[in-house]
This record gives sequence, structure tokens and C-alpha cells, in this order.
Amino acid sequence: MEIELISGALGAEVKGIDLKDSSIENWNVINDLLLEHKVLFFRNQNITSEEQLNLARKFGPLERHIYVKGREKYPEILRIIKEPDEKQQWGETWHTDVSYNPKPTKVIMLRSIKIPPVGGDTMFSNMELAYETLDDEIKNKIDDKKAIHSSLGAAAFVDAYKAMEGNGNLKEYSNSHPVVRTHPETGKKILYVNSMYTKKILDLDEDESDHILNHIFKHQERLDFTCRFKWTENAVAIWDNRSTLHQGLTDFFPGRGLGHERVMDRIAIEGDNPQ
Ligand code: SIN
Repeated sequence: MEIELISGALGAEVKGIDLKDSSIENWNVINDLLLEHKVLFFRNQNITSEEQLNLARKFGPLERHIYVKGREKYPEILRIIKEPDEKQQWGETWHTDVSYNPKPTKVIMLRSIKIPPVGGDTMFSNMELAYETLDDEIKNKIDDKKAIHSSLGAAAFVDAYKAMEGNGNLKEYSNSHPVVRTHPETGKKILYVNSMYTKKILDLDEDESDHILNHIFKHQERLDFTCRFKWTENAVAIWDNRSTLHQGLTDFFPGRGLGHERVMDRIAIEGDNPQ
């Protein structure tokens, strides 16, 4: 096995592991690497949907997306499609998946099916580092606080993507979670808010909450906390959705990335109630 670090902040490309192998031994190796690097990349993995599901199930129960329809034959697989002429794509600003749920996603496994020749890389950001490097003044204000995460907008925005199909659920969901959560497996502290879904810090007035959240959102986007994966077809990314933010870049410009389809198969594994 070979491990190549992708940036100084997080992420590793792993060679010599076959994701067709969903044995507990193989999963143990992958999970240990995941806890260490937070996001793992595997290229040339010619796996089937069943094999992707088998490995994903080793992390825990699979989660169906609250708004987006899964694939007909594999309802736990959500197909993310950017049509050739679309400039935007699903998942296009910094976020952690479904943080408005009572038990937000633990791990995501994303497999590339069709990739444009250029554009549409995925970026990840390390939220343990973001917490560690936050000023003490802000840390003192948020350490014992919870924030409201709301899905507002997440339902309707499915319609904004031509080939993505909603499941008819248009309700808004919101839940509050600690602003700083503790990772259930590593015990590390994580800055657990994101600009897509976090709306307000509880027990602070509106102005102070806005001020702190805006400061944190800017801090979370520091490029030195990030890594970036350039996809090739048949690659798989596995990330810890508890300790990272991610975004799919929409750099699809005429004469370059625009005019090409991008298709990914996403499986989400259910998480726990953040503490
Ligand atoms: C996502 O936000 O889950 C998708 C990211 C991507 O397609 O790169």
C-alpha cells in the first residue's frame, strides 16, 4: 500500500487497496486511514454499484437523501449529474452534508462515472484545524453554544439542476447542534458550522450571532486548511463528513470545462447526534 499526502492540511491518495474487497480487514485499514487523513482518494477502481454499496455498509447504516431521489435500482445511491451545458452543479459551495438533520451524515463515498476533461474538482477543508487556529476570544464565545442548522433552500434547489430529481419532499427541517463538536472516534474538537445551512447561534442576539458566524465562515475557507482532488473516471473519494467541509467547483467555462457531462454516484452513511 502507498499513501501520498495531497496537501499539508488533509487528504491522501491511496494506492494498493482494492475497494471491491469489503471484508472487515480491508474496511479496518480504510477506516484507520480515514480517521488520520479525513479524506481518501482511490483511482482506477472499476467497482460495481453493488460493490460500492457493500463497502459503504461496513461504515454503518446507509442514509437516503431527504430531498433527492435515489437511483431506481439502488435507492441508496444518489446520482449527481451536471449536464454538459450546465454551469452549476450540486454541492457547489462550502458545506457539510445535511447538517440540518438530527444525525448528520458520518461518511460519504463518492464514485466518478463521467468526468469533464477539465473542471469540477472537489475541495475539502479540515475543521479540526479550523477549530485549533480560531482566536481564543471567539473560542470562549462559542465553546458551550449550539447553532441552528436549517435545510431552507435545500429542497427547492434540487429543481435548479436539470437532471437531478427531487423526491417531492419540500418541507424545511432544522436542528441545533454544538458549534464545537467532539469527534466520536478520535475525541478531537471540530468546528461544526457551515455557511450553507447554519443560520444562528442560540443564546446570542442576532447581531452578535451574525458577526461570529461570518467571522467563522471566512476563517473556515482559509486555503491552507484545504486540499483539492482532480477527478479521473472510476475514482472514489471517501470522506469524514463530521470533520470536513467540501464543495464541488463550478469552473465550467466555455472552451474549457463547459460542454461536458459530470456524473457521480454518492452513498451516504448515517451519523450520530453531534455532541
Ligand atoms: C457533494 O457536495 O456531495 C458533491 C460534491 C461533488 O460532486 O464534487
